[in-house]
Amino acid sequence: MRVILAPMEGVVDHLMRDLLTAQGGFDLCVTEFLRVVDQLYPERSFFKICPELANGAKTPSGVPVRIQLLGQSPEWLAENAARAVALGSPGIDLNFGCPAKTVNRNKGGSVLLKEPETLYAIIREVRQAVPPHQPVTAKIRLGYDDTSLMLENARAIEAAGATELAVHARTKRDGYRPPAYWEQIALIRSEIGLNVIANGEIWSSDDAKRCQAVSGSTDLMIGRGALACPNLAAAIKGLAPKAPWEAVQALLKRYSQFEIRGDKGLYYPNRLKQWLQFLRLQYPEAEALFQKVRTLSDKEAMLESINP
Ligand SMILES: Cc1cc2nc3c(=O)[nH]c(=O)nc-3n(C[C@H](O)[C@H](O)[C@H](O)COP(=O)(O)O)c2cc1C
Repeated sequence: MRVILAPMEGVVDHLMRDLLTAQGGFDLCVTEFLRVVDQLYPERSFFKICPELANGAKTPSGVPVRIQLLGQSPEWLAENAARAVALGSPGIDLNFGCPAKTVNRNKGGSVLLKEPETLYAIIREVRQAVPPHQPVTAKIRLGYDDTSLMLENARAIEAAGATELAVHARTKRDGYRPPAYWEQIALIRSEIGLNVIANGEIWSSDDAKRCQAVSGSTDLMIGRGALACPNLAAAIKGLAPKAPWEAVQALLKRYSQFEIRGDKGLYYPNRLKQWLQFLRLQYPEAEALFQKVRTLSDKEAMLESINP
């Protein structure tokens, strides 16, 4: 079984990848998306979303980090994919699941799920631009408004030469509302030969087992669940029990020690509050801490709260 850390724009950056992969259990991370319109980005843009490129595209604990691109132009995506891989990204992931309005207006993300032929054109072009031994993976939802094109999309992705497919088991219209329809992943699996990674609503090792049983997928991708329970990947693999609050507290302290270059002072307070909002789903102590810091905007005051 592989467990992959889901890409989460504005939430899972290199610092969070460092903290979470250090808990064990993860086999791969995917970066936040780099949005491609009509240019080849300079190298620094790739290092910005994936500072791990300076470390062989691995987190400090050695977990590979793959760059994700989002866009609609096969040619520009292919050029940027080639550069990302040349800089060390272990393959390329293509985002066809993002529901954000601005992204979809510019025809990137989940809106492309209405156009199987565009999915095909993009993956084919990227596949040709990237050395054959490097994976080209795609991440989709079940559809845009409904699942009517789900199987056609999956077939197009396979025919274009993708290496694997991660499926967030909801449509764009479903947003993030539970449930995730893991049984739809089983349908996709019965239609194509590609390895399919199951994603959506995995919050515990029990969820992981049920997701595997219902979807038929061995490999899982976890996002919000890993922020709510930082050692979820290790727990899913049976390597450790769910971390006690004291261990999570130690992580919060470690997070506070990261020095962020160019930070105007807001990064840490905002990110800490954001993380506590996930942690409080699993730890009542995080709820209490969130209530304590929610009105604070000053790093020092927040540090005092988590280091009483
Ligand atoms: C705040 C946030 C940001 C996200 N950013 C991305 C992204 O950049 N690329 C992507 O493919 N999916 C993105 N996703 C979707 C997640 O990767 C994942 O598919 C989704 O959260 C469902 O998995 P989960 O239930 O394990 O969280 C994002 C989700 C959230 C909540």
